[in-house]
Amino acid sequence: MHESNKYAKRVSLSLPPELVVKFDAIIIKKAYLNRSKAVADVLRDWISRDEWVQGKGVKVCTISILYDHGMRGVSDRITEIQHRFGASIIASMHVHLSHDDCLEVITAKGSAREMQEIADSLASVRGVRHCKLAVVR
Ligand code: NI
Repeated sequence: MHESNKYAKRVSLSLPPELVVKFDAIIIKKAYLNRSKAVADVLRDWISRDEWVQGKGVKVCTISILYDHGMRGVSDRITEIQHRFGASIIASMHVHLSHDDCLEVITAKGSAREMQEIADSLASVRGVRHCKLAVVR
């Protein structure tokens, strides 16, 4: 494995072996030629996300949550949070995925800090198994 860019800075990392195994499996699946390019792409994604959070202005995002509606109080908590941030939430779509699982996709608009706050509030609800904030703009 060679880094073709001669201006690239070499860094060495210590990582948990199981993490490397999983990472390499994804590299193969995505047909990356080397780990350096894959690591650089992951870092760029992480950095741009941080820049997004620090950034000013009105942002648009979607927040997807997966939860078990059978767990007591979970639907009420999710509704409560959406009402609390009602001024920033544009729309939400509810999908009854299976007997137990519900998927909710929320579209929100506002400051990055607020978008993150909505996502964090939803993620912390007991019974929410997955919460993903996706930046749209
Ligand atoms: Ni449902």
